[in-house]
Amino acid sequence: MDGRDLVRSVQAVGSAGVAQGLRTVRAAWRRKRADARGLPPRGAERARTPGEVREAEPGPGGGVVRFSRSELRVLVAVNGAVFWGWDGAGPEPSYALAGRCPEPDPRAVLEPDKDGGWRVVAERVTVAVSRHGAVEVRTPGGVPLRRDLPPRWWEPVGGGPARWMQRSEVAADARFFGLGGRSSGPRLRDGGYRLWNTDPGRAFGPGDDPLYLTMPVQWVVADAGTHLVFHDNSWDGTITLREGTEGAGSGHDRPGVSVLRIDGGPLRCWVVVGTPARVAHVWASLTGAAALPPAWALGHHHARRGFGSEQEVRRIVAGYQEHDLPLDAVHLDIDHHDAHQVFTVDSDRFPKLPVLAEELRRDGIRLVSIVGAAVPAAPGNAVYDAGADRDAFVRDASGEVVRGVVWPGETVFPDFTHARVRQWWGGLYRERLAQGFSGFWHDMNEPTSFAAFGEATLPRSARHALEGRGGDHREAHNVYGLCMARAAYEGLRELVPEERPFVFSRSGWAGLQRYGGTWSGDVATGWAGLRASLALVVGLGLCGVPYSGPDVGGYDGTPSPELYLRWFQLAAYLPLFRTHASGRAGRREPWEFGPEVLARARVALVERRRLLPYFVTLAHLARRTGAPYVRPVWWGAPEDRALRECEDAFLLGDGLLVAPVLAPGVERRTVRLPRGRWYDTATGRAYEGPGQVRVEAPLERVPVFARAGAVIPVRGEQGGLELEVWAPAPGHTGGGLVVPDAGDGWDEAEIERYVVRRQGRRVTVECERDDGPGAPSRAVRVRGLDAPVAQT
Ligand code: NOJ
Repeated sequence: MDGRDLVRSVQAVGSAGVAQGLRTVRAAWRRKRADARGLPPRGAERARTPGEVREAEPGPGGGVVRFSRSELRVLVAVNGAVFWGWDGAGPEPSYALAGRCPEPDPRAVLEPDKDGGWRVVAERVTVAVSRHGAVEVRTPGGVPLRRDLPPRWWEPVGGGPARWMQRSEVAADARFFGLGGRSSGPRLRDGGYRLWNTDPGRAFGPGDDPLYLTMPVQWVVADAGTHLVFHDNSWDGTITLREGTEGAGSGHDRPGVSVLRIDGGPLRCWVVVGTPARVAHVWASLTGAAALPPAWALGHHHARRGFGSEQEVRRIVAGYQEHDLPLDAVHLDIDHHDAHQVFTVDSDRFPKLPVLAEELRRDGIRLVSIVGAAVPAAPGNAVYDAGADRDAFVRDASGEVVRGVVWPGETVFPDFTHARVRQWWGGLYRERLAQGFSGFWHDMNEPTSFAAFGEATLPRSARHALEGRGGDHREAHNVYGLCMARAAYEGLRELVPEERPFVFSRSGWAGLQRYGGTWSGDVATGWAGLRASLALVVGLGLCGVPYSGPDVGGYDGTPSPELYLRWFQLAAYLPLFRTHASGRAGRREPWEFGPEVLARARVALVERRRLLPYFVTLAHLARRTGAPYVRPVWWGAPEDRALRECEDAFLLGDGLLVAPVLAPGVERRTVRLPRGRWYDTATGRAYEGPGQVRVEAPLERVPVFARAGAVIPVRGEQGGLELEVWAPAPGHTGGGLVVPDAGDGWDEAEIERYVVRRQGRRVTVECERDDGPGAPSRAVRVRGLDAPVAQT
């Protein structure tokens, strides 16, 4: 490190001061030294491939195919998911799986294939293993969906974890999606995507990679079918994608390619084949049902770093009330802590937090608290003392507690991969509950430790319990945030058994949805940041984490009124609808951007409130079916190639298609519609898809379309649940599911199923009940019956 690095690191921490800058220098050196001592140098390596097939042995759901230098286990589970693992890798242990590995499918049979290979034939899929260890997943009709070429390993001669590489081929027309929260997309273009949860250290925009929440979950969407592939391995790695090209009937298609390189850990994989809805369902059955947020968390949240005092919080809430703007939650960032220390309150600036919380609650507004992962390394700090007594903090290879630097200065890091530590940490939320907080916002849990140089996280050699197996940060890093979320979720379930916890976390991994949601992190203020926000939410939903949303207005700057408004309008249709910004950025209250923005933001807020029952329904359906609230437009028609390319619109549930404005100066835009009839909800005009339409997108609103036949539960003027029913096209039927809000507890809401029929100019709605169909007990409003129909 030279003088320039020092200057940069001091500048980087800005107002936090020179002392913090110097700490980041020391921490970076400590990290470097710890790894020099704690990690064996990467010496000579031996390359290996599986070799020639020798024999195969049937087993439950498939069997084991032995090669001269390795063996491959193939298992088809009853839910149709395919597992394969090399070198003895089985599905467990796994941080991603919700419980035990699903039962093997007893009907799956292992049989010889051509050219000396073997195949496992199951009802929905065939897995063919070639003589040299290529694994091909095919549809029951025999159409290949992916071909994983024989893997390669590089094993250190002196022992230690082997790195490995797996190259896979998919159809030339295939498009890739997923990989967690990525800033570009939702369609993942050619290039490398790192698998290492990372705080970029500044506000990010499209192309910044990796970000806070990565996971090796890819969706591959092609004419031949849709599939999800998950490499269940939390080590650092990279996926390099290259879309294929078609030879225009010449027979010279170039396949799409995905190359995965991983630094260690098991070479194992799950593949799920089917319609998008089925893939999402099986994925959720593997990794767990999404935690159901309380209804208030589906409303509007206001956050900002640096509210500074209770008076300021009151001023903002009063502003919302005076301007007649719905508000459901206020978030307090680290500035409400005493010297930025987790689980503390600055009692000078927030002297009566529980009283404030109670007042807000009476007005229907909840308080949400930030919870950082790091604990100040300060004897006398209650959390530090308790954690030290319990040996809760991560140690390095020589047994010393690892020290890093986060907001409070020098910090230590709980080892959330230890059940005992999770239990202790979960109990700490008692203090937050006593302060009146209802929800929890996990931050800096990649984990991030500021560093003047090198990686801003813990040393790779740092030791972790890994549920008793023992290991180091190379394996634990990517699951650290996931395990922290688990600690909070399980702790809150014990502390407040009658309420559903509300936790959302900046970092995480496959399975995070079991404990809560996430948000964009520090997305850059700018139109590019706005586009990245949508890419993130769609990608995360596909990976099984349905609840997320961006910092409206971007984290780091002052958005123009137009940008703020367009961001606000987009987020009004995303699961987490939250304004947030850094203390240095401009204000985010809707009235700060002039009377026109205020009036239009009010329209978005009022519409969100009206749609709340729809969001509640989508949350329930996400939990029961795995389908995210926000879906790519190809969800119902992955065979429609034009839809696969469409990145500027999304489906909100089955019923709505939202076409946000993502660029300045736009007051009209084209929208690509899937097949079927769609109504522009503002103009009432109907369009027949598939095709492209050009519609008005004035500053007052963004275009939203309703699918003909949809049943959208909305909040009526008196607050009750009503049904907005969009007329089916003549000759068609429609319908939908509605799940009413059963409160913030654990009562199971009863699903209402509606069928919509049209006969001429008459639309009838029936509710299907156990004792037969009947009239709905809710007010019904039919829309679209007189709509002029335009061609696309
Ligand atoms: C980083 C988070 O991403 C951001 O939302 C928060 O305001 C700061 N940490 C300060 O807590």
